[in-house]
Amino acid sequence: MARRKKIYEGKAKTMYEGPEPGTLVQYFKDDATAFNAEKKDVIEGKGVLNNRLSEFFMQGLTQIGVPNHFIKRLNMREQLIRAVEIIPLEVIVRNYAAGTLAKRLGLEEGTVLPRPIVEFSYKNDDLGDPLVTEEYIIAFGWASQQDLDDIIALALRVNDFLSGVMYGVGIKLVDFKIEVGRHYEGDFQRLIVADEISPDSCRLWDIETGQKLDKDVFRRDLGSLADAYTEVANRLGVLPQNSPQPGKPQLIN
Ligand code: CDP
Repeated sequence: MARRKKIYEGKAKTMYEGPEPGTLVQYFKDDATAFNAEKKDVIEGKGVLNNRLSEFFMQGLTQIGVPNHFIKRLNMREQLIRAVEIIPLEVIVRNYAAGTLAKRLGLEEGTVLPRPIVEFSYKNDDLGDPLVTEEYIIAFGWASQQDLDDIIALALRVNDFLSGVMYGVGIKLVDFKIEVGRHYEGDFQRLIVADEISPDSCRLWDIETGQKLDKDVFRRDLGSLADAYTEVANRLGVLPQNSPQPGKPQLIN
């Protein structure tokens, strides 16, 4: 059997050539990194959970007409996706102050923002993903004004969808990051949501207790990351089969 071709290996995922032109296989690893990979660990089961959670969110987006790269899940750790040309921006949407925004403006974490704020960082690990303005993005040719208008509209639709889904299971969507790619169909190109949507790239707080259920658990050493992600998956009803379900009797065979 021919060995499949690795296209790219990132911190949390690896991309392989897909079975047909224009497709890729996205493999979710168990590796966790924070602070631009200064902090690293392997969290058993994280890849399986993020594969399921990203599938769940992307399918939901498809159902409400938000274009994205997801085609189908292949197995516990892999999904088939549409190949895109990634725009080198981290598109961040914030509903409450946290992380770098709280630090930059001296706001208390959890302060509600006057409206959702969309911001952009330039995707470059060597530079630590610096915050950039729309002027920079257009001047350096990473995206046009029209692209930016489309990206902001996409990001806000994702925000409304994710906020609603999370609210329904007692979780506050504090902020999140998406990546957007150019997808070519013949002579046409359109911008679609790519990469992943998972607790690795969101801030999720329990509405009642404020408990963190996202990667901050790892960044700030707040306990078990796998337990936090399992809690999110469990509430959303997307726990992978055969994995332990907290509070439920286990079948032993
Ligand atoms: O996460 P950090 O405090 O470094 O940065 P932030 O700008 O406050 O992050 C806002 C949101 O984007 C958080 O939910 C992060 O998890 C997410 N993010 C990400 O997924 N990847 C990055 N490289 C930067 C932020």
